Amino acid sequence: MCSTIALNNGLIVPVIGLGTWQGVDSPKEVEKAVRFAIDAGYRHFDCAAIYGNEKEIGKVLREKISDGVVKRENLFITTKVWNDDHKEEQVVKACKKSLKNFGLDYVDLYLIHWPVCDSDDVDYVETWRGMEKCVELNLTKSIGLSNFNSEQVNRILKVAKIKPVMNQVECHVNLNQKKLRDFCKERGIAITAYSPFGAPNTPGSNAGFKSTEKVALDSPIIEQISKKYNKSKYQVALRYLIDIGTIPIPKSSSESNIKANFDVFDFKLTLEEVEEIDKLDSGKRTCPAFQYKGFKYYPFDAEF
Ligand SMILES: NC(=O)c1ccc[n+]([C@@H]2O[C@H](COP(=O)([O-])OP(=O)(O)OC[C@H]3O[C@@H](n4cnc5c(N)ncnc54)[C@H](OP(=O)(O)O)[C@@H]3O)[C@@H](O)[C@H]2O)c1
Repeated sequence: MCSTIALNNGLIVPVIGLGTWQGVDSPKEVEKAVRFAIDAGYRHFDCAAIYGNEKEIGKVLREKISDGVVKRENLFITTKVWNDDHKEEQVVKACKKSLKNFGLDYVDLYLIHWPVCDSDDVDYVETWRGMEKCVELNLTKSIGLSNFNSEQVNRILKVAKIKPVMNQVECHVNLNQKKLRDFCKERGIAITAYSPFGAPNTPGSNAGFKSTEKVALDSPIIEQISKKYNKSKYQVALRYLIDIGTIPIPKSSSESNIKANFDVFDFKLTLEEVEEIDKLDSGKRTCPAFQYKGFKYYPFDAEF
């Protein structure tokens, strides 16, 4: 049984979600993945307009709802506004387009995918006003941020009529985001952990790592803990992220991996084990978004 976290607006989110950015896989693969995931018990799906597969995901969700396998109110669907739709009036249109793609009346969470916009001329504070309109129009139950640093979160909090419930950021054993997590926790903002395994098979990822260096899932401490609990290193990585209070959203297209990634609710790491894994933090990103380096709102120059 998947545990849940209550967001600052009372909405409940399952602590494991399926990541749906398909990377090297075809958009058709996601249909199978969502089907496997619902059958395995997943109720939380992380999507985005830019992933180009909201239609395929929506088709399966609607099929599972009409077959009586799940109820809409028991699903938690997140999607995100892309960096070319940051003007206030574009945000509502983009959200409506995503809903049309899914064939759904609302999403549970709508995120600003990046604080940066492609044309580098729209302040994300303006984008936030569009996000608030989406809530007022009942297009989404809640709104939040992704890839925002602490200063950027603060700027939003200063103007927000509706508070962000979430900041979705890269988070795994090599980049455990302790400072940003503490900062967001103090302000009632939950953290979704994207690329929970460090996106091991994504071409162009691991940009911050030397070619010989792996994301630390292969480290002896993970191996030792994995033997102790008879769980894989991937399951230990997910359990670590849950035990530090985040909501990991592993991507997989494989039925057995999808099932295994959900099979993490029958064990818990000790405080000492969490502290040992904390030491693997290197501060290196697999997703540094170098294409936005030098942009006004590039998030990763700040300390956290
Ligand atoms: N907000 C953002 O800017 C942002 C950025 C990046 C990602 N995300 C979100 O986060 C999600 C997850 O991140 P990600 O896709 O970058 O990387 P990830 O979840 O860290 O890694 C996915 C890779 O791990 C493999 N894998 C999954 N489970 C496994 C298991 N149990 N054993 C062995 N291999 C396994 C998958 O292969 P198989 O498919 O073969 O299992 C896939 O190649 C994305 O899909 C997306 O929804 C958000």
